[in-house]
Amino acid sequence: MDWGMKNRLARVIKPKTGRGVMLAVDHGYFLGPTYRLEEPRRTIGPLLAYADSIMLTRGVLRTSVDADTDTPIVLRVSGGTSIVGRALSDEGITTPMKEAIRLNAAAVALSIFVGTEHEHQTLLNLSQTVSEGEEYGMPVLAVTAVGKELEKRDARYLSLACRIAAELGAHIVKTYYCEGFEKVAGSCPVPVVVAGGPKLDTEMDALQLTYNAVQAGAVGVDMGRNIWQSDFPVAMLRAIRLIVHENGNARQAHELFLSLKQQGK
Ligand code: R5P
Repeated sequence: MDWGMKNRLARVIKPKTGRGVMLAVDHGYFLGPTYRLEEPRRTIGPLLAYADSIMLTRGVLRTSVDADTDTPIVLRVSGGTSIVGRALSDEGITTPMKEAIRLNAAAVALSIFVGTEHEHQTLLNLSQTVSEGEEYGMPVLAVTAVGKELEKRDARYLSLACRIAAELGAHIVKTYYCEGFEKVAGSCPVPVVVAGGPKLDTEMDALQLTYNAVQAGAVGVDMGRNIWQSDFPVAMLRAIRLIVHENGNARQAHELFLSLKQQGK
């Protein structure tokens, strides 16, 4: 692996712990003004300092993040669909590699939709992006998307999707936590991070998910709604950091959350 690729990867997965806390705020690319992400700058601003990297589209990056940030950017480069359209899986590449480089991205991210009618095109999107990424030293994060079919999130399906992503050259894979996650992480030869999915009932549920995922082999999270849909998003993000980077358990992280919440943070 060349120096540029290694250096960019080290900005996303921190060498000190071998783990990473990525903040996902890319939801608007198909969901529009998602609850509590209606005004991206207001959501992102207070969280930026606590995220190892931030995952978003070029539009929200340019409009809602100041260019003097030192938080690494993971740029979403796939899309072209909407929640009210015909098929969420019908994605293309929306942002060229050249622009990702111009935006000083630390990595690019795109979705693959294994098992859908657009499996082939989204897998070729990944392959093509990896080829370009290898040329320019840009890591590629593949998101094993399930669209509206949340019930797909089991170890059998996710192992299949993650392994295919790695085989096609993804440098990091983002997937969902599930029962039997050891199989998912263990059969994927590149680092795996987990999304949070729709907001869970309590903060403790999301912290437990994070802990379980890391214990089962995830190198961290690329999480959105379970952080910024909390009433105390900074406290939540800091609690997640405790699990990912300091090997805290869910209870310790929850205690930190409660204490920060009490301080109004
Ligand atoms: C899909 O909308 C995006 O790739 C999100 O970044 C991803 O689902 C992670 O966000 P969440 O933790 O809210 O599921």
